[in-house]
Amino acid sequence: MKESWEGEFQHFIRNEDEADLLWFTVEMVIKEAGKKELLANPKILDIGGRQGEFSKFLNSKGIKAVSIDLLKVDHNQGAEQVQANIHKLPFQNESFNIIVANSVFDDLLYKFNYSTVIKEIARVLEPNGIFIMLASAINSHKVPELSEYFSRIDTPFTKNLAFSEEEAILWQKK
Ligand SMILES: C[S@@+](CC[C@H](N)C(=O)[O-])C[C@H]1O[C@@H](n2cnc3c(N)ncnc32)[C@H](O)[C@@H]1O
Repeated sequence: MKESWEGEFQHFIRNEDEADLLWFTVEMVIKEAGKKELLANPKILDIGGRQGEFSKFLNSKGIKAVSIDLLKVDHNQGAEQVQANIHKLPFQNESFNIIVANSVFDDLLYKFNYSTVIKEIARVLEPNGIFIMLASAINSHKVPELSEYFSRIDTPFTKNLAFSEEEAILWQKK
């Protein structure tokens, strides 16, 4: 019931084509930010990744990716799904170099302690790694920890992407 209600308002990655478009967007903004070295050996965490369609797509291309979601979702072959809360990420420090949050930070649907979430994301991200928020974003006025742990990178492509009317925002770990 909750899932169908959520679906009325939010975008979900439901298939390979949508996952492909998300990856195209992520690659594009990382290149535009001048950080293409991160794409040489990507280790990607998709937070709030739902059924793991994005990580499944990436793993099928030989790109190391893990999906984490609070919900217990059906097993999705190849998706490397982890059921956990993003307030306490079950990963070692500096395990990933790219963290993606697509359509996750919606205060109408979910409750977050952003201070805790941002510290956790910073902990599991390598130095100079990139945290990308798409289609729902928080800013450093609301969450001061963002500028404590990250530097914001603006590019011409971080706004009004084809993928979404909303912003994609990049933060690089200090
Ligand atoms: C709108 S969905 C987006 C799913 C996916 N990123 C996509 O684009 O298809 C947001 C997801 O965030 C998850 N979520 C919300 N709060 C969470 C939390 N505290 N820890 C882990 N996942 C959470 C929800 O269960 C939901 O699957």
